[in-house]
Amino acid sequence: MINYNFYNPTRLVFGENTIEKIGELIAQRGYHKILMISGGGSIKKNGVYDKVIESLAKHQIEWVECWGVQANPCLTKVREAIAIAKESKVEAVLAVGGGSVIDTSKITAAGVFAEDIWKVFEREEKIVNALPIFTVLTLSATASEMNCSAVITNEAEGKKYGTGHPLLYPTVSVIEPSVQNSLPWEQTVNGALDAMAHIMEFYFMGTIEETVLGIDEALLKSIIKAMSRLKLKQDDSIARANLAWAITMGLNGMSGAGLKGGDWACHDMSHSISSMYHSIAHGAALGVLFPAWMEYVCETNQHQFDRFAKGIFDCIDIEEGVIKFRNLIRNWQGCTTLRQLGVKEEDIPAIAKMTTARGRIGRLQILAEKDVEKILRLAY
Ligand code: NZQ
Ligand code: ZN
Repeated sequence: MINYNFYNPTRLVFGENTIEKIGELIAQRGYHKILMISGGGSIKKNGVYDKVIESLAKHQIEWVECWGVQANPCLTKVREAIAIAKESKVEAVLAVGGGSVIDTSKITAAGVFAEDIWKVFEREEKIVNALPIFTVLTLSATASEMNCSAVITNEAEGKKYGTGHPLLYPTVSVIEPSVQNSLPWEQTVNGALDAMAHIMEFYFMGTIEETVLGIDEALLKSIIKAMSRLKLKQDDSIARANLAWAITMGLNGMSGAGLKGGDWACHDMSHSISSMYHSIAHGAALGVLFPAWMEYVCETNQHQFDRFAKGIFDCIDIEEGVIKFRNLIRNWQGCTTLRQLGVKEEDIPAIAKMTTARGRIGRLQILAEKDVEKILRLAY
C-alpha cells in the first residue's frame, strides 16, 4: 500500500431539523456578519430559506444575500459575490444550496484575499487565506460540503477548471436530507451518478487496498439501493438519509485513501462537455462517460474491473457489468449516450482537444487527445 495523509476538519450536522441550528453553529464560533450565497430560488419554494434566516435572526447574526448562482457556476457570479463580501465586511460565508452554490461560496471566501481569483485556477496564484465557510446542503451530489475542492467556469474563456486547498474545507455543514424531497427526479439521478463516479474514479485504481475497496463497494451499493427506493417514493426519508450520507462519504477523503489520488479522466471530460454545453449537468455527463471509459481502459486493471462487475452487479465480467450499469442508468431514466444529452457529433474533436489542452489526462491509463476522442465516440 502507498503512504497517504487523511485530513478532514469539517463538522457535519446531519439529520432532521438541523437547519434550524445554523445560526447557533455560526454564532458559537464568534461570527456576527455573514454573506449568504444561493442559487435560483429553490430554497424559497421548499422553506429552507425561511428556516435559515429565522435561525440567523434568532442568534443575532447580520446577513447580506447574493442570489443567482447557476448550475455549473460562473466566474462572473464569483466576482460579484467577492465584491459584496468586501464591501459589506462580512466575517464568514454561508452557502445555502447544492454543489454550485457551495463551490461559488468557497471561491468567494478565498477570493476576498486573492489578487485575481481566476489565476488560482490557472495555477498562477495560490490561495493564501479564506473566510470561514458554512454550508446548508440542499442537493447531495458533489460532497463539496465536506471537501476542499471547487469547480468554476470562466464563461468568457470557455474553461471549466477545479482547484483545491485545505482552507476551502467548510467549517460546518448542515445536511437535512428531507429538504431534498423537492428535487426534480432528474437532479436526484444526476447526484447519484456524480457520487458513483467519484467513488469509481478511485476504486479502479485499486489492487490490494481491501479496507477502502470494501468501503467503496458498500457506498456504491448503498447509493443503488437508496435510488431504487426513491424511484418508488421520492420522500422516503430513510432512503434520502442513506443516499445523502453515502454521497458525502464518496468524496470527503474516505473513499480514496491510498488509491493513488484517483484517475479523474471522466471528470476532466465531463468538465469540457459542461463548459461547451452549459446546460448539461455534471452528473448526467458522467453517467454517459463512465461506462464508455470502462470499456476503453478495463484491460489495464482487468481484475479490479471484474471485481466491480461481480461485487456491484453480480455478473461475471466487466463486459456484462457495463451493460448492467447502462441498464441501471436507463432504469433511472438517465441518459446513456452523448447524443441523448444533446452533444453534436461534430463537436467531439473540439471536446477532446479542450480536455487535453493542459496535457494528457487520467492515471490508470494515461489518455492523449486521440484516446479521449475514441472514448467520446464510444459514448456517442
Ligand atoms: O439554483 P437552485 O434554485 O437552488 O436550483 C438548483 C439547481 O437548479 C437545484 N436544487 C438544489 N437543491 C434543490 C434544488 N431544486 C429543488 N430542491 C432542492 N432541494 O438543483 C440544480 C442543480 O444544482 P447544482 O448545485 O448545480 O448541482 P450539483 O450539486 O450537482 O453541483 C454541480 C456542480 O458542482 C461541481 C460540478 O462540476 C458542477 O459545477 N462539482 C464540484 C465538486 C466539488 N466541489 O468537490 C466535485 C464534483 O465532481 C463536481 O465537479
Ligand atoms: Zn463529480
